[in-house]
Amino acid sequence: MTMSEVRMLALSPMLMLLLSLLMASFFDTTAGQIGVCFGQMGNNLPKPPEVVAMFKKYSIPRMRMYDVNPEALNALRGSNIEFILDIPNHKVEGIANSQTVANAWVQDNVKMYKDVRFKYISVGNEVKPEYAAGKAMVLIQAMQNIDKALSEADLSNIKVSTTTYLGAFTDTYPPSRGRFKDEYRNFLQQVIGFLVNKRSPLLVNIYTYFGYIQDKKNIPLEFALLKPNKGFNDPKNQLHYQNLFDANLDSVYAALEKSGGGSLEVVVSESGWPTQGEDPEASLPNAEAYVNNLRLSVQNGSPKRRGKPIETYIFAMFDENDKPGAETERHFGLFNYTTRELKYGVRFN
Ligand SMILES: *[C@@H]1O[C@H](CO)[C@@H](O)[C@H](O)[C@H]1NC(C)=O
Repeated sequence: MTMSEVRMLALSPMLMLLLSLLMASFFDTTAGQIGVCFGQMGNNLPKPPEVVAMFKKYSIPRMRMYDVNPEALNALRGSNIEFILDIPNHKVEGIANSQTVANAWVQDNVKMYKDVRFKYISVGNEVKPEYAAGKAMVLIQAMQNIDKALSEADLSNIKVSTTTYLGAFTDTYPPSRGRFKDEYRNFLQQVIGFLVNKRSPLLVNIYTYFGYIQDKKNIPLEFALLKPNKGFNDPKNQLHYQNLFDANLDSVYAALEKSGGGSLEVVVSESGWPTQGEDPEASLPNAEAYVNNLRLSVQNGSPKRRGKPIETYIFAMFDENDKPGAETERHFGLFNYTTRELKYGVRFN
C-alpha cells in the first residue's frame, strides 16, 4: 500500500459519516418545517375543506386541530399533511373512566380515517391542576385507554401524548434551573413515565410573547423576537442563549431531566405572535419577524440539543373572534379569513 492509499482508507470512515449525515438530512427534510394549528373558535372561518386546500397550496406540512371535525378529516384523506388531533379537556374524564368510550373514540375518529396521516393524539390541552384536583389519575388513565384502543385497532404507530404549556414550569431563568411547579408535577409525573416508556414526545405550548409581556423590564424585545441581541450565558452549563424561545424550551428540558424525563423529545405544539391588540408590540412587523426567525431557528435545535430540528406548530391559521380573554388572543392568525391571503410574508418550506 502506498502512503496515499493508507490516507484514503483512514479518510473513508469520515466520508461514510459525512455521507450518512447528508442522507439523514435528505430523508428528514420536513423535520425542521413548521406546521400550523387550525383553531376553530371563530364564526367567520373558511370551511375545513377549503382550509385543507390552503395547507396544500402553501405546502404547510403539518396541522394540529383541537377536536374531531369529520369535514376536516375527510378533506385530509390521502394528503401528506401530518396531523395532530386533540381530545379536548371536557372529553378526557369520560375516556379515562371507560375503555369502551376510548375504543369508540378511536374507532369513530381515527380508525375510520386510515388514509389520514395521524401523528399524535394529544389527550387534553394545557390541563390545569384545578382540573386534576382530586382526580390526579384522570389524565394518565385517559392516555393509557387511548393507547390501548389504538394498539387494539392496529394503529400503534400513532403516539399518544398530552399538551402542556410554559405555565406548568418555574425557575425558567436561567434555563438550567427549570423545573415543574409542584402542583403540575403531581399529575404530570406519571405522564412523563408513560411517555418515556412509549417513546412519545411531550407536547408543550411556548409563547415568548407572553413571557415578554409579563416581564418587559427584564426581557429585551429583540430577545423575544429572535432578533440579533447579545443574549446571555447560563452559568451552570455555559450554554449561550440568543433568544427567549430557546431559553424557554431548554428550561422545559431541564425540568424533564429532573423528573425522569431526560430522554423525552419536546414538540412545540403552539407558538406565535399576535398582530394587534392592547399591547403595542402586538403588530404585523413583530409577528412577521417572530414567525420567520422562529422558522429558521428551529431547524438548528436549541442549545441543549444542537443540531436536532424542533418540530414546531404556529398558532394559528386564522384570527379567532370567539376566543375569550385579552384582545390579542383573537389576533394570532397567519391568514386573513376574508381574503384567505397571508397577513404577512411567511414561507413554509
Ligand atoms: C383582511 O382583509 C380585508 C380586505 O382587504 C381587510 O379589510 C381586513 O382588515 C383584513 N383583516 C385583517 C385581520 O387583516
